[in-house]
Amino acid sequence: MSRGGRTNRRFVIIGQKASASGDFLPFDVPGTSGRLDVLLRCVRAALLWSHGIRAGVVVYLVLGGGPRAPRVVRIEGSAARFVRPDERSLATLATKILASRADEIAAGFVEIRAGIAVSRGGLETVFDDLGDATLYVLDEAATDIRDVPESGLDDTAFFLGDHLGFEEANRAWLESRGARAISVGPRSLHAEDAITVVLNEIDRHDARRGMISPVS
Ligand SMILES: C[S@@+](CC[C@H](N)C(=O)[O-])C[C@H]1O[C@@H](n2cnc3c(N)ncnc32)[C@H](O)[C@@H]1O
Repeated sequence: MSRGGRTNRRFVIIGQKASASGDFLPFDVPGTSGRLDVLLRCVRAALLWSHGIRAGVVVYLVLGGGPRAPRVVRIEGSAARFVRPDERSLATLATKILASRADEIAAGFVEIRAGIAVSRGGLETVFDDLGDATLYVLDEAATDIRDVPESGLDDTAFFLGDHLGFEEANRAWLESRGARAISVGPRSLHAEDAITVVLNEIDRHDARRGMISPVS
């Protein structure tokens, strides 16, 4: 599998009720997991392109539902293996990762499989992992991403809500830490589609600078 890009774009998807325990039914993920399926589609959109995996992307799933919440799953494109595009495989992978109890005894992110780690905690856990990334909240009603100076797209973390959007407390918390709201267009999209549009803007930006070729 080919791996394109640099490790500098991060997507943080906040699942208000998404299961942190993995005890959902694999044949009914939407109905039994607090809509973890929404987050799994975001994993595909953020990490996979048609010929491989984006080495430059890290995905964080913030899981706010069920008895073991809050927890965060981190998937690093540079190191993850066996990330497949179909939801069934992604749900199986999530079940295995979330069944681990390693994060109950260790602090911070604990790698469960190559490139895939889990941690106790919520948004603050993610924040501690982001370094100096420029922070953006993806928001339908905000400034257009095309009005962001291109240099502002180089080392970034994008925060997204799930099908329920953002809780006001989380929005306020992100804003208090300097996150800027940006939009990818005038319609409210599914979260995974908003990620696809963001990455398309970034790919075009990188292609203009000769960092990727049109067919790579
Ligand atoms: C399905 S939408 C949330 C809809 C929810 N009913 C609401 O009113 O907030 C899921 C997430 O995708 C992102 N999103 C959707 N459309 C977007 C757009 N046009 N621009 C930027 N982000 C968008 C936002 O982060 C949003 O919270």
